[in-house]
Amino acid sequence: MRLKGKVAIVTGAGQGIGEGIVRSLAREGAAVVVNDMNAETGTKVAKSILEAGGKAAYAGGDVSTLQANQALVDTAKSKFGRLDVIVCNAGVAHWNKPILDVTEDEFDKIMAVNVKGLFQAARATIPVFEAQKSGNIIVIASTAGIRPRPGLCWYNASKGAAIIATKSMAVELGPKGIRVNAICPVATETPLLPQFMGGDNANNRAKFEATVPLGRLAQPQDHANAAVFLASDESSFITGVALEVDGGRCI
Ligand SMILES: NC(=O)c1ccc[n+]([C@@H]2O[C@H](COP(=O)([O-])OP(=O)(O)OC[C@H]3O[C@@H](n4cnc5c(N)ncnc54)[C@H](O)[C@@H]3O)[C@@H](O)[C@H]2O)c1
Repeated sequence: MRLKGKVAIVTGAGQGIGEGIVRSLAREGAAVVVNDMNAETGTKVAKSILEAGGKAAYAGGDVSTLQANQALVDTAKSKFGRLDVIVCNAGVAHWNKPILDVTEDEFDKIMAVNVKGLFQAARATIPVFEAQKSGNIIVIASTAGIRPRPGLCWYNASKGAAIIATKSMAVELGPKGIRVNAICPVATETPLLPQFMGGDNANNRAKFEATVPLGRLAQPQDHANAAVFLASDESSFITGVALEVDGGRCI
């Protein structure tokens, strides 16, 4: 058990990459706070972790608000006594389409969840981490922030912001014992995937797979494996990285 005794929050953990991450953290011994604004899926994931013998609590809320992030921290402390790790995974995209077809509402939503969500998570967690002189923030960014694909302009921009926010937090918070790293997934088999590809069909899949040297799309477990490493003390000298889990897509 690589995370025994640690307490972690994972946002957007009711399905997809977040679900894969929260299940792996729990399997490695962490007590987990499962966040998702979809109460049905979030509750289901927390319940199944409990049934498998793990420690879990569901806490809902929209991560673009300070109130929701504060409630996550309060849940971690009241249920499990402390907080060691937050995985900021919740994110949204717009459908793959030309720049000028993206609406202002779509832009605002993407920036609110993918960028402002990090601002709010930082405001809620850093005071706790500073007081205990340790803490670990893991941001789920994207290869989109490093090697953007056409049709995803403002999503790509939000993930570029997430990566530089990660590095900025890492350099400023390192002296306080707080590590901050990002994981950059390539296209991954989750309910969000059709939006990135502009529809899930054999042709689009072949196009995306052809850009990955290892020849396949990612699975949530690929990112969960990286998250366990970054959440554990095995990575205690690693901060400020944007770790590509992408089969070589960004080479
Ligand atoms: N799937 C991919 O191909 C891919 C690739 C690169 C990066 N990512 C990133 O990985 C993360 C997870 O993506 P996914 O594919 O698992 O997505 P998904 O849509 O399958 O799951 C996201 C979950 O987050 C929840 N959520 C959305 N907005 C929220 C909010 N404001 N507050 C709380 N919960 C919220 C949703 O209810 C959903 O359960 C995102 O940040 C995404 O940008 C995904």
